[in-house]
Amino acid sequence: MEKINAVITGVGGFVPEYVLNNEELSRMVDTNDEWIMTRIGIKERRILNEEGLGTSYMARKAVKQLLEKTGTDPLEIDCLIMATTTPDFPIPSTASIVVGRTGMKNAFCVDLNAACSGFLFSMDMAASMIQSGRYKKVIVCGGDKLSSITDYTDRATCPIFGDGAGAVLVEGTTEDFGWKDSYLRTDGKGLPYLCLKGGGSACPSSYFTIDHRMHTIHQEGRTVYKFAVTNMSDSCALIAERNGLNNENITWVLPHQANVRIIEAVANRLNMPMEKVMLNIQRYGNTSAGTLPLALWDYEKQLKKGDNIILTAFGGGFTWGAAYMKWGYDGQ
Ligand code: UT7
Repeated sequence: MEKINAVITGVGGFVPEYVLNNEELSRMVDTNDEWIMTRIGIKERRILNEEGLGTSYMARKAVKQLLEKTGTDPLEIDCLIMATTTPDFPIPSTASIVVGRTGMKNAFCVDLNAACSGFLFSMDMAASMIQSGRYKKVIVCGGDKLSSITDYTDRATCPIFGDGAGAVLVEGTTEDFGWKDSYLRTDGKGLPYLCLKGGGSACPSSYFTIDHRMHTIHQEGRTVYKFAVTNMSDSCALIAERNGLNNENITWVLPHQANVRIIEAVANRLNMPMEKVMLNIQRYGNTSAGTLPLALWDYEKQLKKGDNIILTAFGGGFTWGAAYMKWGYDGQ
């Protein structure tokens, strides 16, 4: 039997209309555009500020666009993997809401929480499903409404995060394209440095958790920064080396968009010029599981069949990794 490769055959995306720029943030907390631009590299972020709408709304929009663009009947989809840390509800899964609202009646679905590495981890799982031959069409969606867990009185975290979702269709091919290799890791050391303490089973919501502001992200930025730079750079270098990739034959680097300085460090380690690095952090900020598919969505037109792309991410847990894929179609 011929080997089945798993390849992305389309990309959809959605970002909310509301733009929260650095000027507006400077009126909310003691910060300024210059600090945010030099330390993080974010000019503005999108915020889903309509009452009652959660991550599933953005995911649904991204998935619908993906189905339309690829001319895919929702009934053909076998599975939806929904990478998110900000589900609409603890029960049911966000994936189940998306599947219901988009008419994927033949699909099973799951939410996957690997924080900002969620899309990368989900892609690896979707690729394995396709490569097994048991599934024909899998959608991987990454999206987060980080504004719902951001403390807008904390200047150390509120400039970073934004809302958005992206989705890709993964299918089988016998051509030599698609998901080639991955190196994914989790160390369990991240809890003290990047967490949301309240509202889970360890510390359910109560007046205490609300009074102590335990429902918004706690991050020790400097520690997370160091782990992110080291782990993203090392895993990219490992993936490049074991696939014979270098700054001449890598077409694009697709990094998680958490901080432009982290992205520059990764590019530097691979000896790649920044023109070959997908970058949209300045417009969307860190959308967690949304950053990788949203960058693909933004850059799709520039991508060519056969492009060698290295993806990398880092997030809470800690979770991190890198992967290598050969792009499967010309962007139009
Ligand atoms: O997405 C998944 C994982 N997350 C990440 O990858 C994020 C990793 N961490 C980072 O990107 C950076 O650590 C931050 C962007 C969060 C912070 O940047 P930093 O360069 O590490 O700043 P810092 O926390 O070391 O703070 C430096 C100074 C402090 O003042 P002092 O103590 O030196 O006087 C802060 O109080 O900057 C101050 N500061 C600010 N000043 C103006 C912190 N936030 C702000 C702000 N505006 N918004």
